[in-house]
Amino acid sequence: MVVMPASAKAVTAAAHALRAGELVAFPTETVYGLGADATNGQAVARIFEAKGRPRFNPLIVHVPSLAHAEKLGHVTPLARTLARAFWPGPLTLVLKRRSTSGLSDLVSAGLDSVALRVPDHPLAQALLVETDRPLAAPSANRSGHVSATQARHVSADLGDKVSMVLDGGATAHGIESTVVDASGDGAILLRPGAVPAETIEAVLGSRLTRSLDGGAHPQSPGQLASHYAPAAAIRLAASAVLPGEALLAFGPVPLATSGPAFNLSPGGDLIEAASNLFAALRWLDATQCRSIAVMPIPGDGLGEAINDRLKRAAAPRQACATVLS
Ligand code: TXA
Ligand code: MG
Repeated sequence: MVVMPASAKAVTAAAHALRAGELVAFPTETVYGLGADATNGQAVARIFEAKGRPRFNPLIVHVPSLAHAEKLGHVTPLARTLARAFWPGPLTLVLKRRSTSGLSDLVSAGLDSVALRVPDHPLAQALLVETDRPLAAPSANRSGHVSATQARHVSADLGDKVSMVLDGGATAHGIESTVVDASGDGAILLRPGAVPAETIEAVLGSRLTRSLDGGAHPQSPGQLASHYAPAAAIRLAASAVLPGEALLAFGPVPLATSGPAFNLSPGGDLIEAASNLFAALRWLDATQCRSIAVMPIPGDGLGEAINDRLKRAAAPRQACATVLS
């Protein structure tokens, strides 16, 4: 991994790497982000692999301006008010995704929403403009570690898993952005962060709803009841496809079937499989099959997160509706 001090040349090299599907860590005003092209499913899958995340959480997508955000999500009047007050800055808005967004399904972990943020940092801004792609970027640390607020934290944690780190010195806030769901009429606080809730409430003239109170832990949006689960039942570790079933295959030797089938990765590549997972579930579900037979998928690397998600999708729906954890 290369650590590049901030310069126009470094930004150009970073933008080039991002457009080629590589990972680049960059500073924001909150923490360092582990960035990938949010329209490239395999690049997004690499984020999860590099972080060693055991499951797929939806990621924040960074854009240079409100105008860019409008192309990706449906900006409600509430969201517009918040964006005008706090962007650029450490506030993330969860909005309904536009069908034309071009974002990978993995970036939203299969949800029909997207979290958007306009960072207030000259290097992040320059990188977004030059890359000319929305950038998915969770904090640039290994899963479970504290967030990286200096370039050397990123190197220590992620080593050669990223192509490059843009070094912009220590970050200003040191904690992540505040996440607010602004997709409806009322603002819901999903994650406390660098913008205090009281400051947001002062702008809105009303209290934020705390989803934290409802038991849905903000750091685990995979637990939200709204998390996508297919209508079809899911049958794991299938060794044959039963009548009426669709097939979710993996690897070079898919099970025999005359019904609908989707191979996550004919070559047996877990990064490719991860990038296809949510789109595959949607596609198979749309065939109105009664259930989806899932071939065994190895549990190493990204396989752990893939199997975790499939296990959740296969859990009894009663339990799904309440916790999905
Ligand atoms: O300060 C920050 O926000 C840093 C810097 C790098 O910008 N980024 C960051 O990203 O923390 P990330 O991807 O780790 O944030 C994920 C959090 C989730 O825990 C969840 O609270 C929220 O963003 N989130 C993302 N997408 C969501 C969605 N579709 N629905 C609800 N919450 C979502
Ligand atoms: Mg983090």
